Amino acid sequence: MKLDRRSLIAAGTLLAATARFPALAAPAQKLSSAQRNRIDTLLAAMTLDEKIGQMVQIAGGRQIALNSRLDEAALDKVRAGRVGSFLHVAGAQPLQALQRVAVEESRLGIPLLFAMDVVHGYRTIFPVPLAMAASFDPDVAHQAARIAAVEASVSGLHWTFAPMIDIARDARWGRVVEGAGEDPYLGARIAVAQIEGFQTADPANPDTVLACAKHMGAYGAAIGGRDYDSAELSERTLRETYLAPFHAASHAGVGTMMTAFNDLSGVPTTGNEALVRGILREEWDYQGLVVSDWNAIKELIAHGAAATPAQAAALALRASVDMDMTSNTYADHLAPAVAADPSLLPLVDEAVGRILAAKARLGLFDDPYRFGDAAREKTVLQSADHRAAARRAAERSIVLLRNEGATLPIRSGRTIALIGALADDANSTLGSWRARGNKDESITLRQALAERATVRFAPGVDTRSGDTAGIPAAVAAAEQADITIIALGEDYDYSGEARSRSDITLPGAQLALIEALRATGKPIVAVLMNGRPLALESALEGIPAVLETWFLGNESGHAIADVLMGRVSPAGRLPMGIPRNGGQLPLFYAHPPTGRPANPDLAVDSARYRDADIGPLFPFGHGLSYSRFDYSDLRAEGQGAKNHMVAVTVTNSGPVAADEVVQLYIRAPVPGLARPVRELRGFARITLAPGESRRVGFALSSDQFAYWDDGWKVAAGPVECMVGASSDDIRLTTAIAVPSAYDLAAGALAGAALATQVTLG
Ligand code: NOJ
Repeated sequence: MKLDRRSLIAAGTLLAATARFPALAAPAQKLSSAQRNRIDTLLAAMTLDEKIGQMVQIAGGRQIALNSRLDEAALDKVRAGRVGSFLHVAGAQPLQALQRVAVEESRLGIPLLFAMDVVHGYRTIFPVPLAMAASFDPDVAHQAARIAAVEASVSGLHWTFAPMIDIARDARWGRVVEGAGEDPYLGARIAVAQIEGFQTADPANPDTVLACAKHMGAYGAAIGGRDYDSAELSERTLRETYLAPFHAASHAGVGTMMTAFNDLSGVPTTGNEALVRGILREEWDYQGLVVSDWNAIKELIAHGAAATPAQAAALALRASVDMDMTSNTYADHLAPAVAADPSLLPLVDEAVGRILAAKARLGLFDDPYRFGDAAREKTVLQSADHRAAARRAAERSIVLLRNEGATLPIRSGRTIALIGALADDANSTLGSWRARGNKDESITLRQALAERATVRFAPGVDTRSGDTAGIPAAVAAAEQADITIIALGEDYDYSGEARSRSDITLPGAQLALIEALRATGKPIVAVLMNGRPLALESALEGIPAVLETWFLGNESGHAIADVLMGRVSPAGRLPMGIPRNGGQLPLFYAHPPTGRPANPDLAVDSARYRDADIGPLFPFGHGLSYSRFDYSDLRAEGQGAKNHMVAVTVTNSGPVAADEVVQLYIRAPVPGLARPVRELRGFARITLAPGESRRVGFALSSDQFAYWDDGWKVAAGPVECMVGASSDDIRLTTAIAVPSAYDLAAGALAGAALATQVTLG
């Protein structure tokens, strides 16, 4: 059989892609010539049905019942070469047995790829991704991904559907819990850290898994925050905001990407040739495997984009979607589509080439059983080191939103009333994607606090039912205590996929509980537990101290209790602003100024609501500390034509050692355009002892000021640099200048996708 040379794109053009960015190894994209030859030989030997088989991913189980569908019918498909990959499977022993069927009982013996959603931990559960983004510490995200990869790979997995890198500006969307929030710069940094953690420099190491950047391109922009709904965006916003983390992920060598369920300006993403083949493949040179989301190829019919399954298959293939997750549209309808239109055949070869390349990069052709070790599985999962890392991640993800009158930390010796069902809800600590997490391995706030203080616990109300019968007991507990801690929020199942809410205030009878506790006159600390920012303006009125604790994973209780009692000074920062009320959504700090900027004076007609204060309740980047930090001496310290250095001195002027997250925002005006009022372009989480100062330098490139105007362009002129403790707490401002305007090359990284180098003096 004659090979179509295009099938070798996966191997052939990779070198060009990596050579253009020599600083990056683009590790998941490297193939040796022996591997390339093996792929060529295989492709030459495969029938069309076997090729299509590689493009098929089926569910070997369900998210909550892994491996439950590995029946004889599934094994027969493997024997016939009609499956390339399984998802929702796990376990060293069962996966080795399944792999053996593929390798020993199918004609060509091509190994299978085993995939699962290992999102914030596999067995050791880390904070949900939104929480880890709140650490403003890419090392936290990196380490969590590294440990998840170690645990998942020892259980036989090759591939995780993570990180989810969708920008989210509407907290009604339940999937905000899975991403890094509203900002493309923070999102890109966290995305790259996770990818490097999952894959390391060499995905052939047996303790790695292939990462999957999802859901390419603007899933997070779903109208009204309704999951799966359309996104309607200008190309400028798409490029500058929603695609920035994907471009950074592609550049970092992410092994795979997943297309989104929704349509983008009327074109369903899974059949969007301009987006996937055009921008991702051709413009960015992305050579990794692209998988559809669950059933999404078939859903091209429901979108109205295809009339028949064969048309849906052709649309997805033309868009360059290599693998069909679960819809069987490729399995059942691609062969007839190819027969009707032979121009699809080279695209099949191309797709299969990329799938085989992913298997080759993992080393599966050399040893199909290298991932998965039943003996090590017993010692690696939930190891003490992994637990310690999960605890550190949880501590670093907590955000102190309010602390009037130094209510926190709680002085030792005080009696605490701990109220709220969430305070003892081990299941919710596991968050939205718990993989193989076990609630019995989680420490709740109730358990951890009881180890540190005298605690009277009363659930009061749960978060759902509206049943107020427990309120009197909660009030009695509060009356007998010195201080009340109330856990408020949503349980884990209120956020996540298909968990959009139109009303993001506190569910159930929690407001009634707060009212009753306020009436006791005792000081109250609110501990928020939630997977999304909630609208809490009235709920939090008069509450002097508020901690945002998200869902923090197995070590949740220890981390929260240590912050409450002062062993740990909190330093997380909000990766999404918290609205005053849901009517403000979508809400984001990096908005254009408008011709009539929001004015507190209602007599002035301006861009605001008349019935709400301006801006969020707590802005992006906000977070307090048990210490205080002063900013001084901000200077632009040297400049080349394209390179700029901005440095500031930060001093811990408070009483305790603590972390500060130093944030650099820019405003880069462009003649003729309304540019965002500020955009994050650098941050550094630093630890300072009382009285200690450090100089923090940010090395910027003018490419980071680029705007999209049918290509990336940089305008000449001054760029304002604002440094401070949040997007709304700018302490110092200086300016740098771009000497002359220029255009960037097609495909170049630009704007928020580019990282700022930080130096500490
Ligand atoms: C659908 C979700 O959108 C996606 O994120 C996930 O990876 C797949 N299901 C597989 O579970």
